[in-house]
Amino acid sequence: MPIRAAMKTALGEKNVRVLRRLKRRLSGQKPPSSPPPAPPKPTGLAAISGDLNKLALHFKTDKWGAHRYTQHYQRHLQHLKDDSFNLLEIGIGGYSRAGQGGASLRMWKAFFPNAQIFGMDIQDKSFVDEDRITTFVGDQSDPESLNAVADKIGELDVIIDDGSHRSPHVITTFATLFPRLKDGGIYAVEDTQSSYWPEWMGSEDLDARDTSMGLLKRLTDGLNYEEFVDENYEPTYTDRNIVAVHFYHNLVIIEKGKNAEGTNKRRALKERYAKS
Ligand SMILES: C[S@@+](CC[C@H](N)C(=O)[O-])C[C@H]1O[C@@H](n2cnc3c(N)ncnc32)[C@H](O)[C@@H]1O
Repeated sequence: MPIRAAMKTALGEKNVRVLRRLKRRLSGQKPPSSPPPAPPKPTGLAAISGDLNKLALHFKTDKWGAHRYTQHYQRHLQHLKDDSFNLLEIGIGGYSRAGQGGASLRMWKAFFPNAQIFGMDIQDKSFVDEDRITTFVGDQSDPESLNAVADKIGELDVIIDDGSHRSPHVITTFATLFPRLKDGGIYAVEDTQSSYWPEWMGSEDLDARDTSMGLLKRLTDGLNYEEFVDENYEPTYTDRNIVAVHFYHNLVIIEKGKNAEGTNKRRALKERYAKS
């Protein structure tokens, strides 16, 4: 039998511990320190406040479940998690049903502890108002209405269009609010599937220019405007101010920023430019 086990059997477990303590004291050794107590595990909302998919399920917005949007928002908005900034969502939810809506605004509030969350809806959703959540009545098909809401908010860092999903409204909203979005801001358009539905003011024609997908697809060419060989091409505002367009199933996320990386087209197209 090994010596330690023999000692334990002869002296008993308790006496072995007393002897060890005595030995440590005589040799001036410190008792082994016990690990610090683990911090209490967060519970309830705090336990899921970093996970947009779980928050979406908790607050019952269809951004996760019926749709698969929050996984993408998590990636594109994570850098703002603790920032103090303004988020505007068009479409608060519940349509004309009294007391219904506000799910996504509550989700954003829980995910961004320092942000101001604003919602705009064609219906009065003021029952959703609370600390850090402010709602406005407004019609996204009307630039005046959109500008009035934007004026009240001030700086716009994130804009999410989850309103009527009618192409002309999506286009008007983008044309009005994108220029007002902060440099470095994020603009999202949800439910782009309606762009293909004539019943929803969309079109079955994949090349149609007057649908929301028509507009969004054109932005991707604008990303490369510096490579166009037409010397007379005048870059548009979106050409110069969009640095990325991310297409997902029924969701598009646009990153605003100065698009001026330069080109090497003159070197690549030497002959063409030598002639001109
Ligand atoms: C899909 S729901 C929004 C859901 C909510 N964002 C969420 O995720 O919980 C669409 C909302 O857009 C609103 N809406 C419809 N047409 C609108 C318009 N022209 N301008 C502003 N809001 C509109 C509706 O009243 C409805 O409440």
